[in-house]
Amino acid sequence: MTSPYETIEVRPVGGALGAEIHGVDLSLDLPDRQFSEIREVFRDNGVIFFRDQKLTPEQHIAFAERWAPININRFFTHVEGHPKIALVLKEPDQKRNIGGGWHTDHTYDIEPAMGSILYAHEVPQSGGDTMFASMYAAYETLSDGLKQTLNGLRARHSSRHIFGPARAGRKDDTVGRIKNPELANQDAVHPVVITHPLSGRKSLYVNPSFTLGFEGWTDVESKPLLDYLYAHASQPSFTCQFQWQPGSIAFWDNRATWHLAVNDYQGQRRLMHRITVAGTALH
Ligand code: SIN
Repeated sequence: MTSPYETIEVRPVGGALGAEIHGVDLSLDLPDRQFSEIREVFRDNGVIFFRDQKLTPEQHIAFAERWAPININRFFTHVEGHPKIALVLKEPDQKRNIGGGWHTDHTYDIEPAMGSILYAHEVPQSGGDTMFASMYAAYETLSDGLKQTLNGLRARHSSRHIFGPARAGRKDDTVGRIKNPELANQDAVHPVVITHPLSGRKSLYVNPSFTLGFEGWTDVESKPLLDYLYAHASQPSFTCQFQWQPGSIAFWDNRATWHLAVNDYQGQRRLMHRITVAGTALH
């Protein structure tokens, strides 16, 4: 089969989502044609991966800003001298990782980040993969009846229970890596099913980390249906898993995926730089 792309090589990663893009040097100012082909792969695959990249923080920022302005994460510590780049770090003596449960970044914001660009600096000898799940697949495989019910619902999302004072009070070893608990003071309401602004496809937009419940329902009333949706959405056939090397980059679409950082590398260091790219209100 001939490739639809002229300037890049694309290799699918999972059946439901994910594609590796080869033949690109992200440290350069990409020609418009190549950038638009990368945008198409991003739109169609939910998460795209690059290998063997060598980016300075400035080049990482320039690539991100080609997509949209940067949405600075207010809870992560940042790379020294670069407030736009969040540090995703786990030291050998730390037990907890960041992002170790299924989630979508920034759903607690009124205008959630559209995507996140994670760049690997140091990775464990084995383990430390990131998993992704397709929220297109999750939605599209529901029954017509449940789709209809969900299409009429909105859900409440919050950062309070994850980044707020209660977490800071726990004094686990994420202290020092997560900051500003006082800024975890804003909740957001989004449709449970969104229409993706680039692809036009419908996507399930609730996640186990930040969604509290449905609008107009109590958390207790919401839980059984949310639990059903979470079990459905995380089934292996809707996921892919990415094995990092130094220089690898993953760019995931927060409107179409969940992700989870696997915490299976105790005693080893993992150091990543993450930039979140701004999105718009969701419909
Ligand atoms: C994150 O949730 O943004 C971090 C993912 C990872 O470290 O693999």
